Amino acid sequence: MMTSESWKKRAVRWAGLVAMVLVLPSAWSNPAGVKLDRAPINPADMASLQRGAQHFMNYCLTCHSAQYARFDLLLSLGLTEDQIKKNLILTDAKMADYMTVVLNPKDAKNWFGVPPPDLSVEARVRGADWLYTYLRSFYRDEHREGGWNNLVFRGVAMPNVLWELQGEQELEPGAGATPGDHHAGKLVLAKPGTLSPKDYDQFVADLVNYLVFLAEPARETRIHIGYGVMIFLALAFVVTRALKKEYWKDVH
Ligand code: HEC
Repeated sequence: MMTSESWKKRAVRWAGLVAMVLVLPSAWSNPAGVKLDRAPINPADMASLQRGAQHFMNYCLTCHSAQYARFDLLLSLGLTEDQIKKNLILTDAKMADYMTVVLNPKDAKNWFGVPPPDLSVEARVRGADWLYTYLRSFYRDEHREGGWNNLVFRGVAMPNVLWELQGEQELEPGAGATPGDHHAGKLVLAKPGTLSPKDYDQFVADLVNYLVFLAEPARETRIHIGYGVMIFLALAFVVTRALKKEYWKDVH
């Protein structure tokens, strides 16, 4: 029989393992150690997803592709073919075409030093909270070639393409910060943009909502199927139990 001592040791070991599994991925996806804001997104909110799709086509697809998705995927957001063709396809692409990038990847590499990565499954790679924080954490940095830096992605090669909406943030060094200390400070809005901070947060939330949808378009369907399966199993359990009672009632 197991003594209580060894039982305790085992419990501690398991707790350690569980903590590692829970903590490691978040540490990996946010090596800078900046606290991430929770993305206020709702994957069932079609209006938000439609706005997010529009933002993505207007502001991101010039540099980033989403080459594992085709434009007709947008039909599942409750949009008609006409709406998609008129508002969301900004090139001469067809409905069945993949969302490829407008920019030539070679030019992009020359301009930015790093090619902008494909964003099809970016939400699964980084997570919604990281994306939500990243897109709100750009700040002016005169030491960077493009003039921008980012609190969660230090030395990022992407400029703040949403600066007209957000305005320009600056990093205000915190108390006791040494020069060049990236994280001991907070971001302040030095020049306001065309959107209020609240509206900008909503703009980014819609965009992130769309990126999450893009990374796993079948998520909602999968959840529905999941519920269906659970209900089926519950019913099957009731029926099987009743049958078992019926079959065994004469045996005892
Ligand atoms: C002017 C070109 C350009 C535009 C427009 C642009 N990006 Fe980027 N983006 C880049 C480049 C270049 C990188 C690579 C940065 C690096 O690795 O340092 C990048 C990186 C990223 C990353 C980080 C990728 C990773 O995991 O390493 C995300 C997320 C991202 N972009 C999202 C967006 C979104 C969302 C939009 C639309 C609002 C957008 N980008 C518009 C150029 C662009």
